[in-house]
Amino acid sequence: MRGLFITLEGGDGAGKSTQIKNIKSFFEKKGLVVVHTREPGGTPISEKLRDILLDSNNREMEAVTEMLIYAAARAQHVRELVMPQLEKGSIVICDRFLDSSIAYQTYGRKLGDMVEIVNGYATDGLTPDLTFWMDIDPDAGKERVSKMGDFDRLEMEERDFHYRVYDGYKKIAENNPERVKRIDATHSVEEISEEIVNYLEEICEKRGL
Ligand code: TMP
Repeated sequence: MRGLFITLEGGDGAGKSTQIKNIKSFFEKKGLVVVHTREPGGTPISEKLRDILLDSNNREMEAVTEMLIYAAARAQHVRELVMPQLEKGSIVICDRFLDSSIAYQTYGRKLGDMVEIVNGYATDGLTPDLTFWMDIDPDAGKERVSKMGDFDRLEMEERDFHYRVYDGYKKIAENNPERVKRIDATHSVEEISEEIVNYLEEICEKRGL
């Protein structure tokens, strides 16, 4: 049986990492094999591409170059790790996936249709079974990130960029109500964990897990 592919999305500082631990422990308690990975990254080649993408010295990177490198990292990750694990029946939890490219490159960088076209090849049509969008206002997210240390290349972008990304996520959630669950990231960790677990129980029931 194919496993489950669960992704977490949201602006920077939305608290994804804490919830990934929560999701991981939910499935491990059921005795299932859980693989936690991330984009960009997750395989040695994709992690090298991540370094290029996030390096704050790479200020001259063109928007199209950026989009293609995210897609290249994804193409490798999907084929080397995600698909083989899903085929083995594992639960794959991924910190960011295609929705990030739609939010950041289509909306943030205003690249239009080319993002979806290129990523059709990168993902080979793979879509998450369930996506949690950790909804946080970009200004509040930035304040959280600033407490964690230095900004990476994307975090250094102007305020308008982050608001376009935010609008992108809103549209993605509106267009995919079955798959994308909006989580209010201003709620307490306990409240968020409970809400997420409810959705996980629902999908497990549907899939007989
Ligand atoms: P993070 O994994 O630490 O959140 O950093 C990844 C950054 O890259 C984040 O600012 C979002 C951005 N990103 C894109 O712009 N497009 C993508 O396709 C992905 C996966 C991430």
